Amino acid sequence: MEPAIEVKELTKVFGDFTAVDRVSFAVQPGEIFGFLGPNGSGKTTTIRMLLGILRPTSGMGRVLGSDIHTQAEAIRPQVGYTSQKFALYDELTMVENLDFYAGVYGVKERARRVAEVVELLGLTGREGERAGELSGGWRQRLALGVALTHRPRLLFLDEPTSGVDPQARRAFWDLIYDLVEAGTTVFVTTHYMDEAEYCGRLGVMYQGRLLALDTPDQLKQQILHGSIWEVAVTPLMSALTALSGVDGVLRVGLFGSRLRVVTKNLSHTAVSLQSALQGLGFGETAVAAAEPTLEDVFVTLVGK
Ligand SMILES: Nc1ncnc2c1ncn2[C@@H]1O[C@H](COP(=O)(O)OP(=O)(O)O)[C@@H](O)[C@H]1O
Ligand SMILES: [Mg+2]
Repeated sequence: MEPAIEVKELTKVFGDFTAVDRVSFAVQPGEIFGFLGPNGSGKTTTIRMLLGILRPTSGMGRVLGSDIHTQAEAIRPQVGYTSQKFALYDELTMVENLDFYAGVYGVKERARRVAEVVELLGLTGREGERAGELSGGWRQRLALGVALTHRPRLLFLDEPTSGVDPQARRAFWDLIYDLVEAGTTVFVTTHYMDEAEYCGRLGVMYQGRLLALDTPDQLKQQILHGSIWEVAVTPLMSALTALSGVDGVLRVGLFGSRLRVVTKNLSHTAVSLQSALQGLGFGETAVAAAEPTLEDVFVTLVGK
């Protein structure tokens, strides 16, 4: 099957600054593909190139079979997009916003499709509320609805739940899963580590570069195998400071009444960490391997 998205060595340079640096990946139909990275890592710039809004400096890309350099106008009618600065009309109600955008996209049987989207997104009962008066969670949901009116096969969601409370975030992801089950492909960006866990595969972006790409579980296993530790030691705070200076230690944090330590791959064992602590004057210590998180993956990829 042809990939939904395919990019090779995609690059965007602004002046003398490289915002996206030779990024390559493919997204298969039906995937939830995540782009995880901090602000400024090149996520939005990548999406804008894939949508044909921004011209790549170099590299190639195809979206739903169309070339992003030469066939951008064929891409946009087939994809849905929610941007970070999505323009909802605050004075219009939910339904009026949906109807307006359905018109922009030339949706046939507009009223019926709007009713469907209302139902699909669980907006029933709120149809008459003005966009300007909605909470963050409902706004995001409406923005998703707007992006869905023309039944796109591929959705680009740029930080869709940024500023949304965790409960609304969870509900939003339930919706995403429903859409994927119905055959939609999703490309989603986030800087939330917990949210990244919901993606099928995940690209880790940093300073314009794609540092790693795999399922969340594989990323943890391959990148973090044997490098996350829980340390019981007293006194806790001075051990935290002391451990931060030990060779191969990338990060030390508090974890309940223990320390959670991320070490560089294969640089430490439980025994070597314990003897490092003893060498620093901490007597009673217990070190055990711990469950990795995506945040650990990120810290390890990026370094200290
Ligand atoms: N039009 C532009 N001109 C100059 N620099 C830009 C432009 N758009 C984005 N950038 C820069 O490119 C970098 C990546 O931005 P962006 O793709 O928005 O990152 P992200 O979405 O991961 O936060 C940032 O440093 C940003 O300031
Ligand atoms: Mg962005």
